Amino acid sequence: MTDSSARVVVITGAASGIGYATAELFRDAGDIVYGLDINPTVPEGVTYVECNVGDKAAVDAAIERCSEHGRIDVLANVAGIVQFGRIETVTEAEWDRVHAVDLRGPFFLIQAALPHIRAAKGNIVNVSSVAGNVAQPYATAYAAAKGGLTQLTKALALELSPEGIRVNAICPGTVDTPIVEQVFHKLTDDLNTRVADRLMMMLPGGAIAPAEIGQTIVWLASPAARMITGAVIAHDGGMS
Ligand SMILES: NC(=O)c1ccc[n+]([C@@H]2O[C@H](COP(=O)([O-])OP(=O)(O)OC[C@H]3O[C@@H](n4cnc5c(N)ncnc54)[C@H](O)[C@@H]3O)[C@@H](O)[C@H]2O)c1
Repeated sequence: MTDSSARVVVITGAASGIGYATAELFRDAGDIVYGLDINPTVPEGVTYVECNVGDKAAVDAAIERCSEHGRIDVLANVAGIVQFGRIETVTEAEWDRVHAVDLRGPFFLIQAALPHIRAAKGNIVNVSSVAGNVAQPYATAYAAAKGGLTQLTKALALELSPEGIRVNAICPGTVDTPIVEQVFHKLTDDLNTRVADRLMMMLPGGAIAPAEIGQTIVWLASPAARMITGAVIAHDGGMS
């Protein structure tokens, strides 16, 4: 038996890192949580829905599945992949892959989920990046996609404001997840260290924990943030 007052929460990227931690937090709050990912390793108690967010047909099918309660209270677009390296290293395939997952995915997820979000008077939280907020070196394709996601958030917040549907973004700094390894192992390449050092500029205390970002997502999605929309929250230890 599910609690009829429980919220329905849809989280992409729930099999790892920030999405995993966020799914656990919503689950622990008593919400009904669907985890969309290409990997099935979502937290216990979270319903896994296989979905490549870059594939519109897969997105439509996944949202159909997640709407079985007739509502979606929260859509958290967390899934993402990173690109790191000089502009010359970005292939057409990598550009397309990064944009498919980091920008196209959230767009078509929102479009598919919107009728169900309307039904619940729900809200949307997009996980962008410090790279989608301010200049970050050696991440042109990633920055273009995340910058697009940041602007999509603001444009849609305005469009949906008359309906009371909130749309917000979080721009994390360096978070302790597997994605970070893909960046830091390349820092030994032939890069300008003065520019690359920009990546290290955070408050002391090490990387941000995934659950810290998760708590910001949960809070933004909660009634406590009821008058916040179109916000781009830098949760980045001062990087930006
Ligand atoms: N970790 C950081 O330092 C950092 C900083 C800024 C922004 N972010 C953003 O946070 C989000 C989460 O990243 P993370 O650090 O938790 O990384 P992660 O690699 O731990 O998790 C990403 C998840 O997305 C899933 N995923 C990848 N491609 C997918 C696809 N095509 N369809 C569905 N799921 C897919 C992966 O399977 C994985 O479960 C990303 O959008 C990332 O850009 C992370």
